[in-house]
Formats: sequence, C-alpha cells, structure tokens
Amino acid sequence: MAQHDCLVYLNGDYLPLGEAKVSVLDRGFLFGDGVYEVIPVYGGRPFRLDEHLRRLDDSLCGIRIANPLSDQRWAEIFDRLIAGAHDQYLYLQVTRGAVPKRDHAIPAEIDPTVFVMCSAIAPIPSSGVRAVTLDDIRWRWCHIKAITLLANVLLRQEAVDRGAAEAILIRDGWITEGAASNVFAVVDGTLTTPPKGNDLLPGITRDLVLELAHENGVPAVERRIGPDELKQASEIWLTSSTREILPVIELDGAPVGNGEPGPLWSRMQAVYQDYKQRLRTA
Ligand code: PDD
Repeated sequence: MAQHDCLVYLNGDYLPLGEAKVSVLDRGFLFGDGVYEVIPVYGGRPFRLDEHLRRLDDSLCGIRIANPLSDQRWAEIFDRLIAGAHDQYLYLQVTRGAVPKRDHAIPAEIDPTVFVMCSAIAPIPSSGVRAVTLDDIRWRWCHIKAITLLANVLLRQEAVDRGAAEAILIRDGWITEGAASNVFAVVDGTLTTPPKGNDLLPGITRDLVLELAHENGVPAVERRIGPDELKQASEIWLTSSTREILPVIELDGAPVGNGEPGPLWSRMQAVYQDYKQRLRTA
C-alpha cells in the first residue's frame, strides 16, 4: 500500500493519509503550538503504552491543553491504525486547534486538532553510528514533547552535514541529550545518564534501559556528565523509541572505546531484545 493510502485518524475520522487536511489557521501550523508522542509497536501492540500516555498528559498539561481523549479512546484509535505484526510506530500530535485569526494569546474557546498515524520503523544500524557534540540552542522546557522542533531540526542537520547520525547537546557545560534521543555513557564500568529535569525529555526508552539495568545487576546512575567525561567514556549509547539502544562508535571524529559497539551495549541489547520478545508473545 502506498504511504498516502494508509489509514490515519484526524479529529474523529479515519481516512487515507493523502486526504487528511488541517486548516492553515491551525495553531500547530502558525506557532508550533502543540505536543506529540512516538510510541513503538511490536507484535501489533503499543510498547510501554501507559508510560507514553502519562508523558502525553504531562506535555499537554505543560502547555495548557486538556487531554482531548481518554486512555481507552486513545488505545481504540491505535488498535484501528495498527496493521500487521511488523515493527511500527504510532505518531500522535495534539495541537491547540484552528483559530479565526492569528494571535499569540490562547483563545478561551478552542477545540484541539488530534492526528494519529502508524508507520514502519526504519532498520536500526546495530553496527553503531557517529555523533558530534553541539551547543544546545533549544528552549528551556525540553521536558515537554513539543512539536516546536526547529532547533532540533537544525542541530540534527548540522550533525548530518558533519557526517554524523546525531548531535549530542551541551548546555551550561553539561551534556543534556541528543537532538532526538537520550544519552548514556559507560564511565568506569558504570552506566551513566543525565538526571531528568527541564533540560531533557524524560525518554521512555531511557527509563526502560535504567529499569532493565537494575533488574540485571548492571551498575547504573543518574548524574550530570561533562563533555570531557563523555569523551573518555568507554561506551556511549543513544536511546529512543525508534532507534532503541544505539551505540555511538565515534564522537567528534575520535573513536569511542575501541571504535566498535562495546560489551555492555551487547549485554543490554540482548536484555532489551529479550524484553521486547517477551512482550510480543505475551
Ligand atoms: N524522539 N530526547 C528527545 C529530544 C527526543 O526527541 C526523543 C525521542 C528522546 C527519546 O525519547 P523516547 O525514548 O521516549 O522515544 C529523547 C522521537 C522518537 C521523535 O521525535 O521522533
């Protein structure tokens, strides 16, 4: 099936992607005034659904939009859109809605725009990727999964221009996260990741990696990481819903460890894939 024929959800209707249209006066289009979620789907089931829906609640609350749907209604929409058992992801977006005229202030009465689609997950390069460090030029509320991603787009493109797959960001002398991922470093044998706060998105994959590390006796801490410490880390990983646990084999042109995915990554990767598999067949 061509992409434009695939079924999507828009404001209560199910229709082919090519026919889904929103107003040019939608505040998502005018101001980037909205939030989104990306939820992986394995074996036909949304992965860590409750966690994603809680984060959606938090993001909506953070930008003063009431959640337009109940958890049950979200789940019904997802079920209708998921086709087949291959690895997919749900993309959902809630914007503040369409307005009669452009005005920055939020109108008292407005119906949000709700859009959901389901797409195949691209293959993940398990041989590892290159990353570069860049100045974190984003706004200060990075814990909100806002659709306003201009800084992330420019940072990712800067990384691509430099032959890398991801930008690892530095704010006030500390590593925050990737342009579209969270960051882990193995420092003296301990899995280390920056603590949650306004500087980074509370990644669902990040939390799962920490959970699985604890369950499997892998020493792990949440603490700040400086750029020099990152440079000396024996392993660096990026985590996200669509790229799972991705090893970084080169940082700013220098090899990470011996320039190959490290032993702790191999161990966590096995644990993570096993966890996914159990869920697929549960
Ligand atoms: N991005 N940090 C940022 C800035 C992100 O955009 C993402 C994910 C993450 C990882 O979060 P999670 O593990 O919950 O996917 C961290 C998604 C995948 C995207 O924008 O497509």
